[in-house]
Amino acid sequence: MIERSLRRSSLFAVTAAVSLFIALPAAAQVDEDAAKLLFKQNECGKCHNPDKAKKGPSLKKIAKDNKGDEKKLIQHLTVSKKVKLDDGSEEDHKVVDSKDPKAIGNLAKWILSH
Ligand code: HEC
Repeated sequence: MIERSLRRSSLFAVTAAVSLFIALPAAAQVDEDAAKLLFKQNECGKCHNPDKAKKGPSLKKIAKDNKGDEKKLIQHLTVSKKVKLDDGSEEDHKVVDSKDPKAIGNLAKWILSH
């Protein structure tokens, strides 16, 4: 009896481990190189650094503040709106120069992965 329930629970553990293994890479599927390239091509790095605040907030802070809200980031990256720079001046935020929703989504995911 004990042996059987042990066997069942270890089967459960294996199943859980396997499904975790399958689920994780899918959730973290970010093409980092493509995102970095797009980031660079659009000169986002002029105002954003992965760790340090520049004219704009660091990517870490953006990721923390937006808690995985990819939709909101995509909106931010495709619809220009006025932002305050850290020197108090205002300008229209840069819109990503890409018509490819996949590339923009990937960039948003990459930013949120910080
Ligand atoms: C001229 C400076 C500047 C450039 C260039 C710039 N940003 Fe920003 N960005 C800012 C500032 C300032 C904020 C903060 C806005 C605020 O909090 O209202 C910001 C905010 C953001 C946010 C957070 C939005 C939110 O709702 O939390 C994201 C994401 C972002 N920028 C991505 C990018 C990307 C990607 C690029 C390149 C296409 C880029 N930025 C280029 C200045 C800049």
